[in-house]
Amino acid sequence: MKMSHHGIILTIIMATVITAVSAASYNVKTLGAKADGRTDSTKAFMAAWSHACGSSQPATVYVPKGRYVVGGMRFSGPCKNGNITVSIDGTLVAPASYFVLGKAQYWLRFEHVEGVTIDSGVMDAQGADLWACKGSSGSENCPDGATSLEIFNSNNVKVYNFTSLNSQMFHIVLNGCRDVRVVGATVVAPWNSPNTDGIHVQLSTGVTILNSKISTGDDCVSIGPGATNLWIENVDCGPGHGISIGSLGKDLNEQGVKNVTVKRVNFKDADNGLRIKSWARPSYGFVNDVLFQNAVMTNVENPIVIDQNYCPGHKNCPNQVSGVKISNVKYEDIHGTSATKVAVRFDCSKKYPCKGITMQDVNLTFKNQVPASSYCVNAGGKTSGVMKPTSCF
Ligand SMILES: *[C@@H]1O[C@H](CO)[C@@H](O)[C@H](O)[C@H]1NC(C)=O
Ligand SMILES: *[C@@H]1O[C@H](CO)[C@@H](O)[C@H](O)[C@H]1NC(C)=O
Ligand SMILES: *[C@@H]1O[C@H](CO)[C@@H](O)[C@H](O)[C@H]1NC(C)=O
Ligand SMILES: *[C@@H]1O[C@H](CO)[C@@H](O)[C@H](O)[C@H]1NC(C)=O
Repeated sequence: MKMSHHGIILTIIMATVITAVSAASYNVKTLGAKADGRTDSTKAFMAAWSHACGSSQPATVYVPKGRYVVGGMRFSGPCKNGNITVSIDGTLVAPASYFVLGKAQYWLRFEHVEGVTIDSGVMDAQGADLWACKGSSGSENCPDGATSLEIFNSNNVKVYNFTSLNSQMFHIVLNGCRDVRVVGATVVAPWNSPNTDGIHVQLSTGVTILNSKISTGDDCVSIGPGATNLWIENVDCGPGHGISIGSLGKDLNEQGVKNVTVKRVNFKDADNGLRIKSWARPSYGFVNDVLFQNAVMTNVENPIVIDQNYCPGHKNCPNQVSGVKISNVKYEDIHGTSATKVAVRFDCSKKYPCKGITMQDVNLTFKNQVPASSYCVNAGGKTSGVMKPTSCF
């Protein structure tokens, strides 16, 4: 067929208009998902992702209101466009049997993507049955469990207003990433749920975590090897095991943690506040340039703690010495109440003492009026301003 001159011009104009205005949108319901909380909708979600990732225009995966049962999913790139939004008004619900996800490492994993935004949504992993299994006498037969949301080997990812409920294992993991912003996250699990870390960051640079609320059974934020240029601000933690750099130094060859800022954080009824933790094992790991600023503690067991003698079960720690070198850690304006008498504890490596710890305006009290105390082993530094409890340097 021969196209007229006008036809060609019209086609060009239309193509231009479509390119300019259309961001392709793929609705999981249109693709067969059922919002009934019962029907497995994994295929429809995967189809929506394939379309969005294969689109040469900016694209949206849209999940309307309702409850969708989905199994383990990998949203893999590289994609044909660098601007994909996964917009979720509904709730993703884990399959009823914990074995379905329990043997996978993750429930929803984004991998090798660039320029993806996850806009709100809830993931409800319903982890209680698996936690009960882990706490029972036949626990060796329980699966490990899955991370609910993992961002893996990806760049320029935004996670906005996302909620994770009762994950089997970790709630959110950022691993091998560059430039990830997690803003307005909500994480909820009971205080006694095992290994339910809120947000875990490792081997990643330029991660920012803002304005988030985390109550869970393990660390609110855990910071693993190779986390650099990390910024955490305005986070509420508790119950939970605090904001924790570590555990580090489990392996000999391990990347260090460098340039971490944690500011404006509230800890309430948490096991720890600001923690650095390493195995008592040989390692080339390190922790440099950390700023902990403006933290409020309410009834926190260990508000400020460095523990380099971690060795669960006292196994595989040949000389009970950590190789992890800790230096330049600042604590500024940290106040509130400790649930134990030792409010500040620095228990550092005898081979590589902690160096350059500075504390300014620290005021931690223990049970109204009984003075709190501090404890130092192999730790050196200086203080200025208010220092309560009295420094042990
Ligand atoms: C991404 O696409 C959306 C339309 O879906 C558009 O509003 C937004 O400006 C785009 N962002 C970038 C960074 O190109
Ligand atoms: C997150 O939710 C809040 C409150 O509903 C809203 O004001 C804000 O714009 C949302 N943020 C993003 C980045 O979507
Ligand atoms: C430290 O990380 C922040 C982001 O958290 C970044 O803005 C800053 O440039 C980094 N500093 C250095 C010295 O790399
Ligand atoms: C330390 O905190 C206690 C309890 O909040 C307060 O009463 C006291 O004035 C503070 N001390 C200093 C020196 O700021």
